[in-house]
Amino acid sequence: MNLRTTPTVAETGRDLLRLRAELPGRVALVPTMGALHEGHRTLVRAARQQCDSVVVSVFVNPTQFGPGEDFDRYPRTWDADLAALAEEGADVVFRPGVQDVYGSCALGVTVDPGPLGSVLEGAVRPGHFAGVLTVVAKLFGLVRPDEAFFGEKDYQQLVLIRAMSRELALRVGVNGVPTVREDDGMALSSRNRYLDPEQRRTAATLYRALQAGVDAGPQGADAVLAAAHEVLATAPELVLDYLELTDADLGPAPVAGSVRLLVAVRAGSTRLLDNTRVRLGETR
Ligand code: PAF
Repeated sequence: MNLRTTPTVAETGRDLLRLRAELPGRVALVPTMGALHEGHRTLVRAARQQCDSVVVSVFVNPTQFGPGEDFDRYPRTWDADLAALAEEGADVVFRPGVQDVYGSCALGVTVDPGPLGSVLEGAVRPGHFAGVLTVVAKLFGLVRPDEAFFGEKDYQQLVLIRAMSRELALRVGVNGVPTVREDDGMALSSRNRYLDPEQRRTAATLYRALQAGVDAGPQGADAVLAAAHEVLATAPELVLDYLELTDADLGPAPVAGSVRLLVAVRAGSTRLLDNTRVRLGETR
């Protein structure tokens, strides 16, 4: 275990600006909503490798939760989060309150994610990506990082944040970090703790469906979708929201080459997402 000194915690934008001014070299930002797991730790390690200073934000952002979603019960595990960030060598942890992030938003200016914000996750969770992009833009503005790090597990979020940084000329490098998985392939997620043991066991079907899709890649798009659907059908208790093939930027999938296979299901009241790269029409 890598025991390092506890990071400095900033609880207000003002504290953060003061600490940010003292950080040496290239600065990385890892935005999180806390409830940290090995996937987040991997983001911090990637940030450490690429930059001289690492800021991690811990903020459960209310504007990306819809009515009736899990904002109130979203896991808040501050002591464990801080201990994990000390082990990973984060320099500063920004843990603002809602008022500190949104108190100055009297005119309600937000970031519009454009058409990609209303497909896939956006179709199921209207307004979700406007909430995500708005808070990430604020974090970019406060931290002024050179690089920011996000998990590939939330692939649509990664694509949209990358597009925001590029199209709004925010000058932040947006880095995607591969999904961290359990032994049975299940993608790590803070929401996995909502699953009961039976749901958790069944949830690994998602990964098996993606792998079946990868294996069918040489036979083309229809075969990929059919193979993944066939595996998902073995777990009828998982309610399918979508299973789609896209190109790497979430546009229409080409006939051959590298594409993305994205899936979302509901296990009881818990939504589970996963995705993988697939090579279409080629042997791997
Ligand atoms: O992926 C998350 O944890 C959140 O969507 C993010 C990027 C921290 C914004 O609140």
